[in-house]
Amino acid sequence: MAATGSGIGTTTLRCLGAPDAVAVQRLHEHLDQHDSYMRWFGPQPKQLTTFSDQLCECNDRRCALGAFIGEELVGVGSYVALERVSPPTVEFALVVAQGDRLHGIGTSILKRLEDEAYLHGARRMVAEILGANAPMLQVIRDRGWAHSLRRDGSTLHLEVKLHGAE
Ligand SMILES: CC(C)(COP(=O)(O)OP(=O)(O)OC[C@H]1O[C@@H](n2cnc3c(N)ncnc32)[C@H](O)[C@@H]1OP(=O)(O)O)[C@@H](O)C(=O)NCCC(=O)NCCS
Repeated sequence: MAATGSGIGTTTLRCLGAPDAVAVQRLHEHLDQHDSYMRWFGPQPKQLTTFSDQLCECNDRRCALGAFIGEELVGVGSYVALERVSPPTVEFALVVAQGDRLHGIGTSILKRLEDEAYLHGARRMVAEILGANAPMLQVIRDRGWAHSLRRDGSTLHLEVKLHGAE
């Protein structure tokens, strides 16, 4: 389990599993309409239970990392491998609980997610980000990936090569 300091206490990161699905569902249920739109480009999935169960399945194709403050899940980063794409590519997304943002949690989840993806064979990461999603775009810029964003209408497509832990 990796620990990282944040302005709101120590945040620990670990891979999520089936027992975490209820906490994952609760985190997503608390997203407001705006955040749901930023995450899914529309309303929340109707079957949030199914979504959370799937997200917590960690295998060769998918992985989810949780950020915890104490026992509380405050952020989730996840990826899914795209099929029949070369080089092996995963698509990722992040969510941090509203009350715990702006403390670097999203950034630390993303860094660890890259390492997990690389360890599981991925060599490229992609994401679709709404142009209006200033916080997520800031996370991407802070990561040094501004040059890897390509605009397509109201959406920005991110595509970065993975190099493994530096
Ligand atoms: C995007 C998200 C995961 C970021 O999580 P976070 O823990 O707040 O991220 P961090 O604290 O690591 O970094 C946030 C950065 O955005 C900046 N930021 C925050 N709100 C901002 C705003 N309204 N406009 C511009 N920048 C903003 C912060 O200043 C910080 O940058 P800095 O470190 O250079 O100061 C979080 O906002 C979230 O869950 N949003 C809703 C879901 C979502 O949009 N997911 C992305 C789908 S791919």
